[in-house]
Amino acid sequence: MQFPEYRGRRVRKTENIRRLVRETRLSVDHFIYPIFVQEGKGIHAEIGAMPGQYRWSVDRLKELAKELVALRIPGVILFGIPDRKDPTATEAVKADGVIPRAVKELKELAPELTVITDVCVCEYTSHGHCGIVENGQVDNDASLELLAEMALAHARAGADIVAPSDMMDGRVGFIRESLDEEDLEGVAIMAYSAKYASAYYGPFREAADSAPQFGDRRGYQMDPANAREALREVELDVDEGADIVMVKPALAYLDIIRTVRDEFDLPLAAYNVSGEYSMLKAAAERGWIDANRVMLETLTAIRRAGADMILTYHALEAARLLQG
Ligand code: PBG
Ligand code: ZN
Repeated sequence: MQFPEYRGRRVRKTENIRRLVRETRLSVDHFIYPIFVQEGKGIHAEIGAMPGQYRWSVDRLKELAKELVALRIPGVILFGIPDRKDPTATEAVKADGVIPRAVKELKELAPELTVITDVCVCEYTSHGHCGIVENGQVDNDASLELLAEMALAHARAGADIVAPSDMMDGRVGFIRESLDEEDLEGVAIMAYSAKYASAYYGPFREAADSAPQFGDRRGYQMDPANAREALREVELDVDEGADIVMVKPALAYLDIIRTVRDEFDLPLAAYNVSGEYSMLKAAAERGWIDANRVMLETLTAIRRAGADMILTYHALEAARLLQG
């Protein structure tokens, strides 16, 4: 059918018709809210490069938990900021470290909230890399044990899902085995499968104080130019036992989200990362864009590309808009 028989505008005429023909739904059901948990007391400190986002100490999480429950946010992902860093990330594996304590606190405050923990040591190492450094290089196999110990500490504290973001080869299988050996077979793994070496992580590294002190992450995170490689990475993680796979960042990688959605049947997460958040906030502060509309359009686009769930710093404000 062609014009004038076909007129596309007929189904765009009213809001109710548009509701009926809408292909993609955006709701709070899809949101995971990232939380920065800092060692210390009484901390609720705004992050300079991420307006509206905070570092929280465990004792202050009560206010946030209440809001998450009221808004019906289904899950959170926790990032730890220890007060001591060393070359081997000692703080990352402690049973009473900042993340295990935050997990317990959140599970007490909001038992239904899905608590996911980021498993990576770059916030805990003095050199800022995501594994053990030997001779100026991140040693893949030497890092696996450390990452698994970290995942175990989180899982023993009650985390529902552990999310390795380090990009070491073989870590999903290694963590799965370690969990199963400890009778933690009910703990799921959300794998940061296609994680790119992206400049969009800049504000996060300020927030978590996790910038590498030498070199960069291109020896383990993926080259932004590669798409087929993302499918290999996802396939490996699926074979190693991932329950949920992730593409990160989201906006510059919508094609990767779509391809992974089409090729795999596991639940798919997309990470709407810090730089994506901060760019939107910066333009909105200058009055150059309508922040709320751009936010909802962005989140809708990530869903349309094929993501089941979105890790996003916008979770609270988007949930308020969608429910209000
Ligand atoms: C830790 C980690 C990073 C992010 C999530 N986990 C930073 C990095 O890899 O450098 C980025 C999240 C964001 O930018 O919002 N490996
Ligand atoms: Zn890392």
